[in-house]
Amino acid sequence: MRAIIVHGGAGKWLDEKIPDAVEVIKEAVVRGFEYLGRDPISACEESIKVLEDSPVFNAGRGSVLNEKGEIEMDASIMDGKSMNAGAVGSVKNVKNPISLARIVMEKTDHTLIVCEGAYRFAVENGLDIEEDLYTNERIKQWKRLKDEIGTVGAVVTDGSRIVAGTSTGGVSMKKDGRVGDSAIIGAGTYASEFSGVSATGDGDKIIRVSLSFFVNQLITAGVSPMDACRCGISLLWEKVKGKGGVIALNRKGEYGFSYNTARMPVGYMNSRSRHPKIFGV
Ligand code: GLY
Repeated sequence: MRAIIVHGGAGKWLDEKIPDAVEVIKEAVVRGFEYLGRDPISACEESIKVLEDSPVFNAGRGSVLNEKGEIEMDASIMDGKSMNAGAVGSVKNVKNPISLARIVMEKTDHTLIVCEGAYRFAVENGLDIEEDLYTNERIKQWKRLKDEIGTVGAVVTDGSRIVAGTSTGGVSMKKDGRVGDSAIIGAGTYASEFSGVSATGDGDKIIRVSLSFFVNQLITAGVSPMDACRCGISLLWEKVKGKGGVIALNRKGEYGFSYNTARMPVGYMNSRSRHPKIFGV
């Protein structure tokens, strides 16, 4: 069965932002699903691009600012069939970091490229460069909301292949050069032949419990995606007092999600349903 699950980041999520978030999540689900019949990697990438292009989410346009008032973004993607993966960290001015992560996966022998090198690689590959990814809201939040977190992610399957991806501006007021879980395979993103996982939240804690790999291993052992996500978030809290969320799909297209923040907008659709279902708001 074809299926897609998308998240817009775990966090506080003020009431007034929810309607816009839900609309864009639905758009991301539908866009990804359209691509699923052709190519699951494109489905994952295109779905995340919708979220990166929206100012509502902390990824691409709308990313939070670091302590120097700059935007530095992380993203990763993994193909569970080939076990190939690509990621970028602390990259500036790239409109769609998830597309850059895909190019790292498909055109290099590397898994993670960071900072200036990642930016130059984006330019060499003709990706859109955007000098101004700042939104007025993020500039106003800068320094005021030190703990602002959030990330976007998608997991897709066409029934035989699973792909997972994640993209973020990271945490507000982070040190320049700080790389979070969204760039780390096994922490923010993981996929295998059995499941795909994308995480969101306090990346410095998520890395310490290898959250996405942990959830993937549970699903591989036969745990349902929902129970595996709940166990993952319990682990995150019990071991390192981490706040965040996680989404997962198995190869039957069954989904799971869990979070220990106020909200985590999630959208899901499969071949049997005609419309995205929305959770976590
Ligand atoms: N999960 C986003 C970050 O901590 O960078």
